[in-house]
Amino acid sequence: MKSVEAVIFDLDGVITDTAAYHYEAWKELGESIGIAIDEEFNEQLKGVSRMESLERLLRHGNRQDDFTEQEKEKLATRKNEQYKRLIKRVTPDDILPGIKQLLVDIRQDGIKIGMASASKNAFEVVGSLKIAEYFDYIVDSSTVSKGKPDPEIFLKAAEALQVPSSRCIGVEDAEAGIEAIQGAGMFAVGVGKPQLLGKADYLVENTSLLSWPEIKKRYHHS
Ligand code: BG6
Ligand code: MG
Repeated sequence: MKSVEAVIFDLDGVITDTAAYHYEAWKELGESIGIAIDEEFNEQLKGVSRMESLERLLRHGNRQDDFTEQEKEKLATRKNEQYKRLIKRVTPDDILPGIKQLLVDIRQDGIKIGMASASKNAFEVVGSLKIAEYFDYIVDSSTVSKGKPDPEIFLKAAEALQVPSSRCIGVEDAEAGIEAIQGAGMFAVGVGKPQLLGKADYLVENTSLLSWPEIKKRYHHS
C-alpha cells in the first residue's frame, strides 16, 4: 500500500476565509469601473493570480481592451490595497473550523505539511493566523511562473518537501486548484460544492468535515 508523506494546503478559502475578502475587494474595484460581479462569477477568480483575475474581470465586463498595461497594474494595485486593508482584521480566531485539529493530527502522524497559495499576501496571512510553525514549507508565489490550474506550484512544494507527487495530498477550494493538484499527480481533496469541485478525489462541503483518518483512508483506497 502506498503511504502518504505530505499534505499540501491552499490558503485562501481552505485555512481561512480570506476568499471572501478577495471577493469583496474585486467587487469594489469592479464597481469603480462599471463592472458588476456576483458570487457565481467569483468562482472563476478563486485560486487564480491577481493579474489573471483582473483580466477575467475585465473580460466579464467586456472592457478587456479599455486599459493600458500600466493602467491594469494600477487597477490590480488598488484591489490589493483594499485586500490588505481587509486582512488587517485577520486573527487566529479566523482559522476555519476543523483546520487546527487537522494540522495537529497530520503532524502527530509524522507527515510533512506544505502550502501552495497563489497569493503574494500568504506569508502575512499565515503570520496573522499564527500557524507558521505547522508548515515545513510555504511556496513563495512570486517564484512561480505559471498560475493554477498549472500544477507548477504544487510540484514546487513537493520538491521542496522532498516527497514524490504520488505520495502527496493537496487540499483546495477552487476548481483551478483541484486541476493543479491532479495535474501534479497528487490526490485532490476538495472543500466546497459538488457542482464546482466534482472532479476532486474526495470532496467535503466545508472544513469542519475534514478529518485526517478519513482523508488517509480515502487516499489509501484510491
Ligand atoms: C489565491 C486566491 O489564493 O490568491 C485568489 O484564491 C487571489 O483569489 C490569488 O487572486 C492571488 O492573491 P494576491 O494576494 O497575490 O492578490
Ligand atoms: Mg483557495
